[in-house]
Amino acid sequence: MIPYAENNRTDQNIQTELENFMAETENNEIERQEPAVAEIVGKAIFSQKYDEYAFFYQSAIRQLTTKLQIVSADFSRNNDRSPIESITSRVKSLESIAAKMEHKGLELNLDNMISNINDTAGIRVICPFLKDVYEVADMLLKQKDVELIKIKDYIKNPKKSGYRSLHLIVKTSVLFSDGIREIPVEIQIRTIAQNFFASTDHQIRYKRQSKITPEIHKKMLECAELMANADEQMQKLAEKVEI
Ligand code: GTP
Ligand code: MG
Repeated sequence: MIPYAENNRTDQNIQTELENFMAETENNEIERQEPAVAEIVGKAIFSQKYDEYAFFYQSAIRQLTTKLQIVSADFSRNNDRSPIESITSRVKSLESIAAKMEHKGLELNLDNMISNINDTAGIRVICPFLKDVYEVADMLLKQKDVELIKIKDYIKNPKKSGYRSLHLIVKTSVLFSDGIREIPVEIQIRTIAQNFFASTDHQIRYKRQSKITPEIHKKMLECAELMANADEQMQKLAEKVEI
């Protein structure tokens, strides 16, 4: 008969071993898993909160777009032409916000998004003439529930790329069922010619930055200058025919 292997382990030993083993495993798991779990939970909470906030940002866009359409229609009644060619808008996607916050070294949470990301809601207004850009901005800023937070005039001071546009960060008061919220919105206002440059510049540069040689950069700047000259000439012609 084969004897049972000798077993010196008492019940007490086994209990202690088990406890040690579990404590060790737990410690390892805490070290290995806790940050990952916290991160996943943090992201899930942010994603859920983002959905709720996206509604607030979308509402601010709707309100400002309506205001822009009304002032444009009224301008058209009095001047027989529209100072606005088109209005487009978007709420920045969760992925883009997360990427921008990561790039800025910010922890992914709602407070950081609200206080650091000004272009979660974005509106782009395209105008026929240079003068319209400033008139549209003035008309919008006359509204009592629109407050200017920041203005960047890349028409007077073009970017190194040649990009031209008037950027406003405004706060608008929007009434919701539980009260009024102040929502920040980035508004880019530019001419058709400036928009032509911005769109094509974006397509050429986006993900192709490494292929932009000094020669290509110089050519792109020349295109931006051509557009700027066209805008100035068109503005003068508009003034000649008194529009
Ligand atoms: P972001 O962090 O990118 O929003 O930049 P910022 O906070 O310094 O704002 P800025 O006003 O400089 O630019 C905001 C937006 O303007 C960008 O998201 C683009 O839509 C547009 N923009 C700025 N520079 C350029 C450019 O050189 N080319 C093109 N095509 N668009 C530009
Ligand atoms: Mg931006």
